[in-house]
Amino acid sequence: MAANWAPDSWTTHEARQLPQYPDTAALTAATDTLGSFPPLVFAGEARNLTADLAKVAAGKAFLLQGGDCAESFHEHSANNIRDTFRVILQMAVVLTYASKLPVVKLGRMAGQFAKPRSTDTETIDGVELPSYRGDNVNDIAFTPEGRIPDPQRMVRAYSQSAATLNLLRAFASGGYANLHQVHRWTHDFMGRSPWSKKYAETADRIGEALEFMAACGIDPETVPQLAQTQFYTSHEALLLPYEQALTRQDSLTGDWYDTSAHFLWIGDRTRFEGSAHVEFLRGIGNPIGVKCGPTLEPDVLLRMLDTLNPGRIPGRMTLITRYGYDKIEAALPRLVRAVTREGHPVVWSCDPMHGNVVKAANGYKTRPFDRILAEVRGFFAVHRAEGTHAGGIHAEMTGQNVTECTGGAVDVTEQSLADRYHTHCDPRLNAGQSLELAFLLAEMLNAEMAERRKAA
Ligand code: PEP
Ligand code: CO
Repeated sequence: MAANWAPDSWTTHEARQLPQYPDTAALTAATDTLGSFPPLVFAGEARNLTADLAKVAAGKAFLLQGGDCAESFHEHSANNIRDTFRVILQMAVVLTYASKLPVVKLGRMAGQFAKPRSTDTETIDGVELPSYRGDNVNDIAFTPEGRIPDPQRMVRAYSQSAATLNLLRAFASGGYANLHQVHRWTHDFMGRSPWSKKYAETADRIGEALEFMAACGIDPETVPQLAQTQFYTSHEALLLPYEQALTRQDSLTGDWYDTSAHFLWIGDRTRFEGSAHVEFLRGIGNPIGVKCGPTLEPDVLLRMLDTLNPGRIPGRMTLITRYGYDKIEAALPRLVRAVTREGHPVVWSCDPMHGNVVKAANGYKTRPFDRILAEVRGFFAVHRAEGTHAGGIHAEMTGQNVTECTGGAVDVTEQSLADRYHTHCDPRLNAGQSLELAFLLAEMLNAEMAERRKAA
């Protein structure tokens, strides 16, 4: 257990990006309510995820983390949850089939509500109001009342997370994720994409393999794993009053766990030395992530790893790098070399989204798909050169047919961004772009595996 740590020890550290609640009694009432609610996940599940991530750190598995930039109260529906879940399953199938590596599936779902912002206020037509900070803080509607932080929103976020998690668990174990359904996970609107044809071919091969195995007596009756999958949840641990209220002591081990999700990460804006967010994450037993952007110096990262993972537990730390397609190859090697030299066991994961935001001529915030792919290529190239495992991908994506990132096989143009631009924050990959990304990843993972076999 971490020394000199308590669920509220973060309150004596510098906290950035937290809302100022005008009514402290209302805040206490909301966090008391949350504190009386049951945990969303069980500590044993978080430990299972740490063990799964330890395999990724050892080069024996791949991490697939994805979901909304920001979940919203408005877009909460069974269809949305199912569609994101199934595109993640599709991606996992493509990756597993090509690389023969197990894929750890981790949703940015069931709790991803709070958003860090680059400015405290937003000005539209000369009117200045506090920035929107996610549905668990305030309203996206640009009105003075809507932008006041309301602590009751945390209670609603908890309820929505519980409902989402419940459905995800049902899909994961109740038959939807059965590998025999691999053909049915197809999204109908992806028809024109060459990648949906390629997916169908992969699904055919898997179908044949399953038939062969069934003939040998291996089917969901004899091997239940074939009928279900393991699906974990994650979000940015930004809104510390919420996270603290859901932090509980595990009765089996006596350790503290943040039971709002299996995995929590610290954002690029809140990971500075001495931050309240680092202090909070230091004491929880969950596996955790740190976003690593261009301003992170190797010596600061090493000190942070010593703080967050002094016991050097494999699978505890995931470093999620997000440089931008034009910076990654110059910047990442320094971090990789420092971490390797010090012998810290980490998962290296690539977030090709947050360093590649551009503003389209018509004002929409977007991400060109070819830059996203270019950052992924750079990520693999660096790890190949350094002899480390390109362990994971972290994507903002949805199963919906949105038009938020430009490019892809079914081309989204700057002009078509307005058609279906639904995100509450950053632009997401749509289902077709996500699948296309999976095939590119599969190709690169394959190359890494082939290289390793050659070296062995
Ligand atoms: C995010 O993941 O939505 C995010 C804000 O990322 P970062 O902290 O890397 O900017
Ligand atoms: Co984002």
